[in-house]
Amino acid sequence: MSTFAAYQISRLDNGEFKAGIEDFQKDDLSKGDVLIKVHYSSVNYKDGMVSTPDNPLVKDYPIIPGIDLAGVVEKSNDPQFKEGDEVIATSYEIGVNHHGGYSEYANIPSEWIVPLPEGISLEQAMIYGTAGFTAALSIHRLEAGGLTPEDGPVLVTGASGGVGSMAVAMLAKRGYTVEASTGSQEHEEYLKRLGAQKVISREDVYDGKLKPVQSERWAAAVDPVGGEQLASLLGQLKYQGAAAVSGLTGGTKVPAQVYPFILRGISLIGIDSVNCPMPLRKKIWNRLAEDLKTTDAFEDIKSVIRLEDLTDTLQSILQGNTRGRVIVELK
Ligand SMILES: NC(=O)c1ccc[n+]([C@@H]2O[C@H](COP(=O)([O-])OP(=O)(O)OC[C@H]3O[C@@H](n4cnc5c(N)ncnc54)[C@H](OP(=O)(O)O)[C@@H]3O)[C@@H](O)[C@H]2O)c1
Repeated sequence: MSTFAAYQISRLDNGEFKAGIEDFQKDDLSKGDVLIKVHYSSVNYKDGMVSTPDNPLVKDYPIIPGIDLAGVVEKSNDPQFKEGDEVIATSYEIGVNHHGGYSEYANIPSEWIVPLPEGISLEQAMIYGTAGFTAALSIHRLEAGGLTPEDGPVLVTGASGGVGSMAVAMLAKRGYTVEASTGSQEHEEYLKRLGAQKVISREDVYDGKLKPVQSERWAAAVDPVGGEQLASLLGQLKYQGAAAVSGLTGGTKVPAQVYPFILRGISLIGIDSVNCPMPLRKKIWNRLAEDLKTTDAFEDIKSVIRLEDLTDTLQSILQGNTRGRVIVELK
């Protein structure tokens, strides 16, 4: 194939931004020692951010977004990978400052690539995607701090989104009692099908008034929302509870007080998927695959789009109007 299709965002000479499908050649791709035929990518909140003009993430245009991809190795200059290998590539600079997954082909540095875990398909790998990886890393960190299902209910905020949906499904599979907080009660049935025992409103977590400490409700929280909701949930964690924070859809300022830390011994754990070291990255991917291998939630969580649908979907995710995981089919 001499040319192939990719969704590209460019800055024009007059300063305006243009986004759409372009013809690409393999030589136009970013440098990397493994050429991958992309079968699936996905839509994450960060892809939405990358698609907005003058965002703080992209240093140089044009860029092919798509922070994660799964596909088959077509050519490799690293003996770790050979033609025909099924692989996943997420994080690092992919789709931000290195051409990403919204393309039929991607050139990726071998040190950013994870072999597809046994027992899952390339499509499932992108249903998990960066969101699933982040949910799994959050749960891993909470459990490394001692969390077990016997400790009590676990809160998941932003539950109908990508990280939230994956966290609900994964925690439920691991035997936790999950309370899912969402801004849209229309998602109640969906969240219960994923395994949430209770679905609550955002206002139930934060009613507009921040209090230093409130009644103890949750043993832990997986929080991709941040902002005032995070400040509020900290004051409702049980004694020695912990919150794993990964996101900012509810805001970047967290007006927390010191009281729950010093009166209840709670912990706040930061989650970063982008530079997670490779040995832990591989462990988390394998654990995610193992935990959700037998789930029947995939059909509910996923919706499938193609490159031509991206402009609308990238806007939707920024407005909080997508549910679960949106995957982009390229094969
Ligand atoms: N740290 C990392 O390595 C890492 C990795 C992946 C993602 N993230 C971050 O995690 C967050 C979620 O990513 P995602 O891909 O899962 O996005 P997503 O699919 O858009 O999910 C975000 C969810 O947050 C809730 N939400 C949206 N606006 C809100 C608001 N104003 N106040 C409170 N809740 C709001 C919505 O859920 P409800 O309607 O159900 O409330 C929405 O579905 C993003 O900030 C993303 O950048 C970080």
